[in-house]
Amino acid sequence: MIVVENLHRHFGGFHAVDGASLTIETGSITGLIGPNGAGKTTLFNVIAGRLPPTSGRVTMAGEDITGLPPHVLFHKGLLRTFQIAHEFGSMTVRENLMMVPPHQAGETLWNTWFGRKRIADEERALRAKADEVLEFLTISHLADQKASQISGGQKKLVELGRTMMVDAKIVFLDEVGAGVNRTLLNTIGDAIIRLNRERGYTFCVIEHDMDFIARLCDPVIVMAEGKVLAKGTVDEVKNDERVIEAYLGTGLKNKVKDEAAHG
Ligand SMILES: Nc1ncnc2c1ncn2[C@@H]1O[C@H](COP(=O)(O)OP(=O)(O)O)[C@@H](O)[C@H]1O
Ligand SMILES: [Mg+2]
Repeated sequence: MIVVENLHRHFGGFHAVDGASLTIETGSITGLIGPNGAGKTTLFNVIAGRLPPTSGRVTMAGEDITGLPPHVLFHKGLLRTFQIAHEFGSMTVRENLMMVPPHQAGETLWNTWFGRKRIADEERALRAKADEVLEFLTISHLADQKASQISGGQKKLVELGRTMMVDAKIVFLDEVGAGVNRTLLNTIGDAIIRLNRERGYTFCVIEHDMDFIARLCDPVIVMAEGKVLAKGTVDEVKNDERVIEAYLGTGLKNKVKDEAAHG
């Protein structure tokens, strides 16, 4: 679905993404892992149109999408989840979902004057859709809560839910597990697997939690120092000498910390 060819993103003289090439197959849940500073988030930002690349090419289903802005990619079904913006915290969870689809009839003055019935119909449909999404994610009980008052993990589920309000083809998730407790992380994992199997979503997932990656992702792509180092199953990349070296080189402190934490 997505092909990235020799992508570069430089910040001044610093090569955050340094000639990365990779493929995300249609229907996969592809993991993207690598030590901190490997360039994973920057790569996502370039693919999703938030940052222009310095050079290189991104195609989606054969079409060149390099450097297209996020709203254009959104219409093509390429979505990157975002934290719920602070200013939407006072809206309910349901309202946060209902806001997502673009070109709502209520947006134009013409429609405000001449299309009251159409607006009402559309709102009803949106509301039904939002409720269906909340049910799918097993968080119907949060529908009327203010977005600012739900937990961090619940927010991640709502962010995922926002991608379900439109016809997403591929969804990019950056560290869905950060600061989320184990139970909610499992719920998020279940939702991703169901969206993949039942609705045909393709996913690309950055995550540090290797249990989460192992449960969801095949294949896994490993990045280090702006480049793609390896691609394979979790077991394959875990035993890859270059991968071990990259984690040891840049991530020794983290690894030691991790092992101390997990025994
Ligand atoms: N806007 C920016 N300006 C300068 N350097 C940046 C910017 N964004 C990221 N970087 C640098 O690029 C490198 C890769 O960052 P990032 O893509 O966030 O890595 P990862 O997500 O793999 O941890 C880091 O060293 C980071 O400091
Ligand atoms: Mg990152």
